[in-house]
Amino acid sequence: MAMEDWKVDGKKEEEQEQEQEQEESEQVVNPWVVSAKEGGKIDYDKLIIKFGCQKLDESLVQRIERLTNRPSHVFLRRGVFFAHRDLNEILNAYERGEKFYLYTGRGPSSEALHLGHLIPFMFTKYLQDVFRVPLVIQLTDDEKCMWKNLSVEESRRLARENAKDIIACGFDITRTFIFADFDYVGGEFYRNMVRVGKHVTLNKVAAIFGFTGEDHIGKINFPTVQAVPSFPTSFPHLFHGRDHLRCLIPCAIDQDPYFRMTRDVAPKIGYQKPALIESLFFPSLQGQAGKMSASDPNSAIYVTDSSKIIKNKVNRYAFSGGQDSIENHRKHGANLEVDIPIKYLGFFLDDDAELESIRREYEAGRMLTGEVKKRLIEVLSELVERHQRARSAVSEEMVDAFMAVRPLPNMFA
Ligand code: TRP
Repeated sequence: MAMEDWKVDGKKEEEQEQEQEQEESEQVVNPWVVSAKEGGKIDYDKLIIKFGCQKLDESLVQRIERLTNRPSHVFLRRGVFFAHRDLNEILNAYERGEKFYLYTGRGPSSEALHLGHLIPFMFTKYLQDVFRVPLVIQLTDDEKCMWKNLSVEESRRLARENAKDIIACGFDITRTFIFADFDYVGGEFYRNMVRVGKHVTLNKVAAIFGFTGEDHIGKINFPTVQAVPSFPTSFPHLFHGRDHLRCLIPCAIDQDPYFRMTRDVAPKIGYQKPALIESLFFPSLQGQAGKMSASDPNSAIYVTDSSKIIKNKVNRYAFSGGQDSIENHRKHGANLEVDIPIKYLGFFLDDDAELESIRREYEAGRMLTGEVKKRLIEVLSELVERHQRARSAVSEEMVDAFMAVRPLPNMFA
């Protein structure tokens, strides 16, 4: 009898392990978990197919250049923003002289942002500048309160601190409204949340977000909060009388599930579907297989890091595709596919010709890892120092001004 019990249990355990292995061997991407297949890297082509978005190809990048009469942003040229939904429709409308607005956001879960967090904001600033359109930025203090187990007060404090980093990215106050959910949700915004909520079943959110019976009910409704800034009627002080203004959302692709849901509901409640432009994830210093972990400060460069810390992190932790000895390196050259300094330079070194020459020399073994890292340290230190200067110039009054519920009379000028 005891023996049999043991067998049954033993088998159960085995089955559980198998299930777990199966799960681990699949890549998982949702707003809370990003993990590649065992030891591998994220397969973005697969993600495009799985999510049902479109590839942002060269011809679309050229179209943006033509329409804006400006060279495209590095993040477009280098494929950092690599997927989209209905971007063509937004551009068609823009070409006809119709305007749109931008919507992006941040979940304020930590005091200091790392470089990966800056990417959507740097890109959104570019979009705002070249298209000259209004922008709403949502700080989901409620989301982080529920998911990160922060108190309401602490989440609100972090939202305000993060707003300073966002403002430091250079947004135009005459076209930008920043809001925190704990302060702004109500009125038309809340009425839209209820309209959306009536069209999404528990089964549906469970399938999209993986909620289970163990999740508290606050989480289940949260997707409506992130959905409704996609609708202009949620901001009557900005868009009154422009109920059909289109919305374009720049974000990292892990946010796609929220907007799949939003786009599904929009026509059912008489609204336009928001369009999306979506980025890759920013790799950790340890490389593709390593996970960017909040508990490991050495896996990322923070906007609060000093030049000395940046130098130390890059030299010690940035995964190198160079060979193990100088002789081998001169002979075989670097493997650029796995090299983190090259990846980071691809995000942040503007000069195409210089990047190309570094890639060529490094790949051929004529340039050493230490030399590439040295250049990366310069580029990152400059970026971070510039950010720190801009952030220290952001006053409490400026935060209040960006977050004031007010009309923006010149937002399309
Ligand atoms: N959920 C996002 C995060 O955790 C924050 C967010 C809210 C957002 N609205 C958005 C991100 C719109 C991109 C676009 O960071």
